[in-house]
Amino acid sequence: MRIDIITVLPQLLESPFEHSILKRAIDKGLVEVNLINLRDYSTHKQKSVDDYAFGGGAGMVMSIEPIANCINALKAEREYDEVIYTSPDGELLDQKMSNRLSTLKNIIILCGHYKGVDQRVRDLFITKEISIGDYVLSGGELAAAVISDSIIRLIPGAMSDETSALTDSFQDNLLAPPVYTRPADFNGIKVPEVLLSGHTANIENWRYEESVKRTKERRPDLLK
Ligand code: ADE
Repeated sequence: MRIDIITVLPQLLESPFEHSILKRAIDKGLVEVNLINLRDYSTHKQKSVDDYAFGGGAGMVMSIEPIANCINALKAEREYDEVIYTSPDGELLDQKMSNRLSTLKNIIILCGHYKGVDQRVRDLFITKEISIGDYVLSGGELAAAVISDSIIRLIPGAMSDETSALTDSFQDNLLAPPVYTRPADFNGIKVPEVLLSGHTANIENWRYEESVKRTKERRPDLLK
């Protein structure tokens, strides 16, 4: 898989891909992540990528020219399955969406900034708009990192225990069950007996019941 992230702040996106599961997936060649500086596609002397909004009002708008130059240059090299724009008015990211995106070959993520992009960018180039929650971030970079992380960890081979993505919260519309590690007894607070029993079927059963219980308590909307 290839993820091309178009941003005005590439430095902000370096660290998330330099550690842990994402770094391993990149090192193994399972995914290629390219941080593309939008300013490199500006034809202005000052490398500006935004301008005042027609009709007035506070805040700058990201201009169409550098974005069009950048996306067209990428598209000349390969086909893209999705051109994603990060925005609080996009479709809410959930596990189902991440599962689907993780099966794609090439995607672009355009990080929004300022008052957003010229509407013509959205009309002409964007195939999917994604929000990571009902709150406003100062830019789309952290959203792009969240989206990429949720996708990359699902690529087969990205996680050391291949089955563990399947038991994540949300994979069956259920939250994950409680987990424990040593010591089995911490100041008299004991780990549930069944987990020490070695009886696989009973453990699976217990985990499923705890998942349902937790989901009912915390996220009953998922059970509908
Ligand atoms: N940009 C600003 N806020 C955002 C959000 N909630 N999701 C995605 N992109 C954003």
